[in-house]
Amino acid sequence: MHSASRAPDRNHRPAVRHAPRGLGPGLISRWHRSTCILGGMRVRRRTPCYLEIADAVVPDFARLLRGEVHLDRSSEIRLLCPVSGQAIPATEREVALMATMAPGQWYDAADLACVAQLPVDAILAMAQRGLIVGDGDEPLSARLREGERTLEAVGWHPQAALYHATSAWEGVVGDEGRRRHDDEAHRERLDAHRARHGPIAPHFWRREDAHQRVALPLQHFDDALASLMRSRLTTRHFRSDVPLGLEDFTRVLFGTFGALGSETLAPGTVALKRTSPSGGGLHPIEAYPLVIDVEGLSPGFHHYEASSHSMALLDPMSRAQARELAEQLTIGQTYFAQAHALVFHVARLDRHHWKYRNHPKAYKAVLLDSGHLSQTFYLLATERRLGAFYTAAINDLDVAERLGLRPQVEIAIGASGIGVPDTACDQLHLKPEPYVPVAPVIPDQ
Ligand SMILES: Cc1cc2nc3c(=O)[nH]c(=O)nc-3n(C[C@H](O)[C@H](O)[C@H](O)COP(=O)(O)O)c2cc1C
Repeated sequence: MHSASRAPDRNHRPAVRHAPRGLGPGLISRWHRSTCILGGMRVRRRTPCYLEIADAVVPDFARLLRGEVHLDRSSEIRLLCPVSGQAIPATEREVALMATMAPGQWYDAADLACVAQLPVDAILAMAQRGLIVGDGDEPLSARLREGERTLEAVGWHPQAALYHATSAWEGVVGDEGRRRHDDEAHRERLDAHRARHGPIAPHFWRREDAHQRVALPLQHFDDALASLMRSRLTTRHFRSDVPLGLEDFTRVLFGTFGALGSETLAPGTVALKRTSPSGGGLHPIEAYPLVIDVEGLSPGFHHYEASSHSMALLDPMSRAQARELAEQLTIGQTYFAQAHALVFHVARLDRHHWKYRNHPKAYKAVLLDSGHLSQTFYLLATERRLGAFYTAAINDLDVAERLGLRPQVEIAIGASGIGVPDTACDQLHLKPEPYVPVAPVIPDQ
């Protein structure tokens, strides 16, 4: 069930309510009780409203007591909340009730209970769990009303909003930083994965239904640009005994996120030019450097202000605190916290969605923008013989909290990292052999 239509949040509410006509004695007493409990509360359906039927496997306890292991399959209906990202269990009766509610319309909670033949407490409980929204001061309802209003105002595509909310992370700690990274450990993990999920799809792909194959001129790909691109790699070992030079850091930051030009497309509508492409030329992604050890810059969270090419310090901290924060925000990837600075990519969706309002491709486009910026960042770092990385495995909600981002308007997408590489270590790096393409087998024509 999905509805994107909306109605004003608060209509006029009468001060005195009368029992609906035609109710029997039982219903009338229930109605009176509701008036006390619900205080004339009105409710409406969630907007948008998404439900899933989730399968769960539960042990059969009766058989377990007899020493048998038997798993029963059961299913659960859940409302997926595009504001909190939570999956809220709902009963079939609750779903049936939600289905009778017109999108955007407010209902008197007591009347609804009577019509649905549910105890009034059940309506209250639905609002308390976030299955429906109440119009009172109750904190959850207030938060959901505000969240839904923002999603609508910012022009989120509802399915993108749902995906974004359900894939957001807070306080996640992976085991990447703690587990063994030697070749044998890697191989064991891959073997176990293969045993469980079967073999991986082949690394090269060839279509048997091709009409013809033409061998292209062989590329040496060894000029200056090609060599730079060849030497790009993801670095996971950094030196802790030297700071990153300010000039080096600035070159990479400016070269990736700096404004090289601007064009007024219409009065008040200005497009920026950066070294990377951006959907619609909007460049909605802002750079938030978490400085750990960069010459001349205080450790802590900054915002890079492209208009003046300056760093605005938002959250000062000690170097040790900045490292610890980097580790937390990259879900415990300890090697990334050894970098000299991480630059978080934060999209301003009020700018992006101004053009791509309710657009099914808007979310994809903004993620792709981040990918382009990442590659530019990598190449500029490589040019200076610096180490770089990109990670999408971040606790985006914690970044948002720390930076005071506007919920549902500004979203953290990933982080680029930079530092002076520790060339004595390479345990965490790929070591690919050079590959030369093999000429295709072309049958006689
Ligand atoms: C979208 C994206 C997300 C990534 N996330 C991580 C990550 O969370 N942790 C990590 O160690 N590397 C991450 N990487 C780096 C990749 O693991 C790396 O690019 C890949 O292993 C190839 O190595 P190379 O960059 O040295 O060529 C990410 C790369 C991309 C493009």
